[in-house]
Amino acid sequence: MIVAPSLAAAIHRRLLSWFGDNARPLPWRSTRDPYRIWISEVMLQQTQVVTVIPYYQRFLKHFPSLTRLAKAREHDVLVLWEGLGYYRRARDLFRASRILRENDYTTIPDDPDVVRSLPGFGRYTTNAVLSQAYDRRVPILEANSQRVLCRLFGIDRNPKEAAVQKRLWELAEELLPTKSVGDFNQGMMELGALVCTPATPSCHACPLHKHCRAYQENRQHELPVRAKVERTIAVTEVAIMVNKGDRWLIVQRPNHARWGGLWEFPHEALQQDESAEAVALTLLDRLGLHGVVGDHVGSIRHAVTRFRIRLTALCVRMHGGRLKTAAYRNAAWVRLEDLPGYPLSAPQRRLARLLESARNNAKAQKRKTG
Ligand code: ADE
Repeated sequence: MIVAPSLAAAIHRRLLSWFGDNARPLPWRSTRDPYRIWISEVMLQQTQVVTVIPYYQRFLKHFPSLTRLAKAREHDVLVLWEGLGYYRRARDLFRASRILRENDYTTIPDDPDVVRSLPGFGRYTTNAVLSQAYDRRVPILEANSQRVLCRLFGIDRNPKEAAVQKRLWELAEELLPTKSVGDFNQGMMELGALVCTPATPSCHACPLHKHCRAYQENRQHELPVRAKVERTIAVTEVAIMVNKGDRWLIVQRPNHARWGGLWEFPHEALQQDESAEAVALTLLDRLGLHGVVGDHVGSIRHAVTRFRIRLTALCVRMHGGRLKTAAYRNAAWVRLEDLPGYPLSAPQRRLARLLESARNNAKAQKRKTG
């Protein structure tokens, strides 16, 4: 599809003017600093603006420049990321900062070839950063702008299909203005976030409705075409809480795994017909430890993609063995009060709190009876 130059010009004018009047004053919008824009874009992947803002501010207070980030420990970067999810982003961000410093860059350079080769930089992130920081004429496509484009051009095929993706990227590129590219790209996202919303788009308030195919055909509620909803899968998992005196065993997950680099009470999914105790013993065996499965500390429920997970924590009384950590990156015996210094996933942080309150209750009970 070729966009007529007069249509593209009308879209630039209307969208840029609307963005100027309606853009939310988000902290990364008051800067052209490529480093700051990079941090915002990585945090905003898969995460809502309201969630990102406090993380963004805290992160930049600790690591105000690329140089400072590259000098950090990965552990400290992950601690600041805790709760944002998708921890691979944080590890890639950190690795990219080190690579840039090793090559004497002090910020993200205005060079698509260099930027694209860094960990964590796909087409979206590369172009989002270069257009906002340097006004490079490169397009972006993400969930919000994709919805806008599907409606604007009446695209009635599933946008996840490769051929449709290709067409959407082409459209995004054809639409770009020659100046204010960063604002135009952000304007497309902002329009999707504030006006061209998934369920109830406010077409009357949209600066592009005159040009919108879906609006003309009253199909805004049908587009974009939604993929079939995948069924959810129920999973039960067990975590073991092993102690030596007042220290508890936590392990660091391998990089390639989900929650890679984060720490946890060792955990594993139950196979069909397996008991929680059997899984606890398998985990102990993997760790080279001997022990007896004891109290049930508690259970929590959480969801990851289409998995609905019930995670149960069991205490283990250890009586020997030699710790093997081959299945993990690392292991540590830590006091409960030191756990906040270790990055844990959100469900594992909830388990830690359950353990803490179980210990406090036990202590209170002992005081009462003793
Ligand atoms: N999502 C991704 N990038 C964004 C930005 N710059 N502003 C608002 N939402 C975004």
